[in-house]
Amino acid sequence: MKVLVATEKPFAAVAVDGIRKEIESAGYELSLLEKYADKAELLSAVADADALIIRSDKVDAEVFEAAKNLKIVVRAGAGYDNVDLVSATDHDVCVENTPGQNSNAVAELVFGMAVMAVRNMYNGTSGSELKDKTLGIHAFGQVGRNVARIAKGFGMQVSALDPYCPDDVMMEAGVTPVHSVEELYRNNKFVSLHIPATAETRGSVGYDLISLMPKGGVLINTARKEVMDEAGLVRVMDERPDIKYVADVKPDNAEEMSERFGERVFFTPKKMGAQTSEANINAGIAAARQVVAFLRDGIDRFRVNK
Ligand code: 3PG
Repeated sequence: MKVLVATEKPFAAVAVDGIRKEIESAGYELSLLEKYADKAELLSAVADADALIIRSDKVDAEVFEAAKNLKIVVRAGAGYDNVDLVSATDHDVCVENTPGQNSNAVAELVFGMAVMAVRNMYNGTSGSELKDKTLGIHAFGQVGRNVARIAKGFGMQVSALDPYCPDDVMMEAGVTPVHSVEELYRNNKFVSLHIPATAETRGSVGYDLISLMPKGGVLINTARKEVMDEAGLVRVMDERPDIKYVADVKPDNAEEMSERFGERVFFTPKKMGAQTSEANINAGIAAARQVVAFLRDGIDRFRVNK
């Protein structure tokens, strides 16, 4: 059986070694497609694959159509908005993610970007500190929980909104539960986004919410660009010169925003949140183990499609 690792943005080499070990010691063959430039390469590589390990790589109906032997796709990471789940189910393919495996890496980047924003992009001018400031965590999943843990170390006052998370889970983490999205944005100088990109969340963070933020508000997006209403963001930043937006996910209008808002915005050139060797090892090896567990024993504990 052949397991294809297809990563347009490759894992660290040490993680690939670990993946190879897991796959080969189970008696399967590993095939590697890294930094591919166009979809045709993926379509050809996947043609005889029984399993596929990916990151943010787009796996749509065309890929499923080309992958005649495919039984499982594991997204080594959290968000699986890059995989067409309906098509996967139609083709009888199991789709899984590896929740929690890269969440510390993303959470650490939140603070890397928060400090950079309040120190004025390290431009030599006087900035401010995170200590005693309010932080609202928009969605309290694995990344949100790591953000809360680190925020406590900075001495921040932390609250979170997550209709899927019971209040006592937040309270045990020393986090104040918030029950309305307006309240979250109104009461926090820093808001960190951790919502997935779904039909419900796409374009949901825009003018109405961001304009509620207190003076000097900093919005940090290490989630997905799709959750932003970019036109609304531009509008509020035009009206409110005190607001900053830092994102690990370059918006479609990145050029316009950088020209218009200069040092009030920052975008990583490529999604960097999970780009650490530790996160690559954790998520990559978890993905390899999940592939083996599925192919060998039919275990589908992390399945995300029906
Ligand atoms: C995730 O959903 O796990 C993160 O956004 C990381 O994505 P990446 O593996 O493409 O860096």
